[in-house]
Amino acid sequence: MTKPILPGEVAAAVVNPAAYGAWKPLHEQLAWARANMPLAVAENPNHDPFWLVTRHADVMAISRDPQRFANGIRPTVLTDRAGEALARAATPGGDGHLVRSLVQMDAPDHMKYRLLTQSWFMPRNLKTIEDRIRQIARDTVEHMLEAGGSCDFARDVAAHYPLRVIMDILGVPPEDEPRMLMLTQQLFGPTDPELNRSREAITSSEQAIAMLHYVIADFEAYFGALTADRRANPREDIATVIANAMVDGEQIPDRELAGYYMIIATAGHDTTSASTAGAIMELARNPTLFQRFRDAESDKAGLIEEAIRWTTPVQHFMRSARQDVEMGGQTIREGDWLMLNYVSANRDEGVFVDPFMFDPDRAKNPQIAFGFGAHVCLGQHLARLEMRILMEELLPRLTSLELAGEPARVESVFVGGLKRLPIRFEAA
Ligand code: HEM
Repeated sequence: MTKPILPGEVAAAVVNPAAYGAWKPLHEQLAWARANMPLAVAENPNHDPFWLVTRHADVMAISRDPQRFANGIRPTVLTDRAGEALARAATPGGDGHLVRSLVQMDAPDHMKYRLLTQSWFMPRNLKTIEDRIRQIARDTVEHMLEAGGSCDFARDVAAHYPLRVIMDILGVPPEDEPRMLMLTQQLFGPTDPELNRSREAITSSEQAIAMLHYVIADFEAYFGALTADRRANPREDIATVIANAMVDGEQIPDRELAGYYMIIATAGHDTTSASTAGAIMELARNPTLFQRFRDAESDKAGLIEEAIRWTTPVQHFMRSARQDVEMGGQTIREGDWLMLNYVSANRDEGVFVDPFMFDPDRAKNPQIAFGFGAHVCLGQHLARLEMRILMEELLPRLTSLELAGEPARVESVFVGGLKRLPIRFEAA
């Protein structure tokens, strides 16, 4: 059976950072794919072909089947052909993963490594650090209010709060946070000229990989020193857990060690910043919602879940088929590459009523922004907790909130979100 091939403009859009920056017409193109070709191949001149998975049910089915859909075989994030070849040339055994973290692992390694920190991220343990998070939220709000009646919420507030929380948990001192923020933005946004290391448009994968090498080397140097310190002076932080962890009776090898720190240090802040800023944007646009949620007694859970669906900060992950699989009337062949498009799955009209409406009162909100299955986001409870605490601390302190200019989104195919959110507010 021949594979269905997506129209060229749809295939081009899902690999184009600017399309994710603009959101339009990307959303229309994804809606078209869901309705007409929910499981079809995107062919682009610079990328190996891949299946674009746009429906919620298919993203779930693939995510819950790691035996047949692996993370470790091909890049887990969309990479063009030249970039993959360079990465393969630059990595041990040619596996092509510049970083080997939980995300790049499959069974049996994946669970062994995940279990080292999983209990840290469970609600029961998070309760023990809730007061620390609330203090960081209070400091963040004070800082915002002191600065006067307007700010760029994305840059001045949302970018810092989740970073401070994750650095606190990890054990990185506050003076090193600016460096971590810069490195993360360079790691996730190498294609956005406003955020990347060279501050120039990246036109080739050689440039992108060269830049990433520097970024990764900086991370490795930093966490190498942290490991040495925590082996000598253990503390109550995640760095101590990672530095002293044993897998199969041995200390974690250097590459996996660096990968572990990097995934914890990076996965948790740009993402949570994006969903937090997205929530504030919708409240600034809708005075009725703002009034409702600034009431200290209001339940924020629906707002938070909807902001996560609405923003879908992680826009895709890739999987590779380990064997032939029949799915949705198609045959996916062993070795085929697939893009789980969470942006699309979270606007699936078959699952969400009025998916293009921001509605904190959805009776059901099975948003899939945290993924699903074996790799489901380790930090999902932390992300929700951070958002709730910030909303609890911030909203009752404001009497008005409105947009003060045009918001702008990051140009990136992987982690997206607002890079600018100008707001005006009055403090209570
Ligand atoms: C709104 C915020 C966040 C979003 C949207 C998000 C999204 C995701 C997604 C889509 C995945 C992949 C899931 C899959 O493959 O099925 C993931 C994995 C992961 N996330 Fe998050 N995340 C967020 C916040 C966090 C936070 C706060 C942390 C804290 C450390 C974190 C740590 C991780 C880790 C370690 C993984 C890898 C898990 C594995 O492969 O086993 N994330 N996240």
